[in-house]
Amino acid sequence: MKSNAGRGLYVAGTDTGVGKTVLAAMLTLALDACYWKPVQSGLEGETDTMAVRRMTGLPAERFKPEAYRLTAPMSPDQSAEREGVRIDCEHMELPGCERPLVVEGAGGVMVPMNRETLQIDLIRRWGLPVVLAARTGLGTLNHTLLTIEALGSRGIPVLGIVMIGEPHRENTATLAGWMRVPVLGTVPPLASLDAGSLMDACRTALPSFNQWGFEQR
Ligand SMILES: Nc1ncnc2c1ncn2[C@@H]1O[C@H](COP(=O)(O)OP(=O)(O)OP(=O)(O)O)[C@@H](O)[C@H]1O
Ligand SMILES: [Mg+2]
Repeated sequence: MKSNAGRGLYVAGTDTGVGKTVLAAMLTLALDACYWKPVQSGLEGETDTMAVRRMTGLPAERFKPEAYRLTAPMSPDQSAEREGVRIDCEHMELPGCERPLVVEGAGGVMVPMNRETLQIDLIRRWGLPVVLAARTGLGTLNHTLLTIEALGSRGIPVLGIVMIGEPHRENTATLAGWMRVPVLGTVPPLASLDAGSLMDACRTALPSFNQWGFEQR
């Protein structure tokens, strides 16, 4: 595994729709970083890159173009097959960037990219540490513990997990008790998702991330 530890981080999720894009927008602002969504499946409406650009208000040059833009809102492998495309995981490389790079994954970590490769294999090859976005509510214990086990068994470094949603003290405590990686904080439902609100939420909920990078507390 290559080490890209100082280059940025990979925002992974326990599932689709857990809040990776919102978290990635917060971290892109906090780290004053560039953002990259390697594989976008689903092009109708706003893509994740467009959403992060809108929320952060950062200039266009902070957004690296997707390696694959696939029309159907399906898993990357299925969406690609529909278009007669194979996602070439062996040659997909992190884009160059003078700043830290925040990479947003697709769905959950075991999602297939093609018939031979899962997303987690790509994460391992890139060697970026993972920040795992997880729901606060019912169902999160199983999803989160499975994801952490899968990452850990492949030797992928995990900075910690970020819970997203209505704060849930018991779930947070249970996860903290079962994992060796820290729960970094809970991002509650935010009334506004503009840059100022995201920065405030990041300072309050995720003080480990700031303009100097990630500080283990
Ligand atoms: N903290 C939050 N406060 C308010 N709304 C949120 C928050 N986090 C996520 N959302 C909303 O929940 C929905 C799903 O979040 P998001 O798009 O970030 O998920 P995702 O994990 O990136 O999904 P995908 O797998 O499609 O990339 C979006 O409409 C988003 O605006
Ligand atoms: Mg997203």
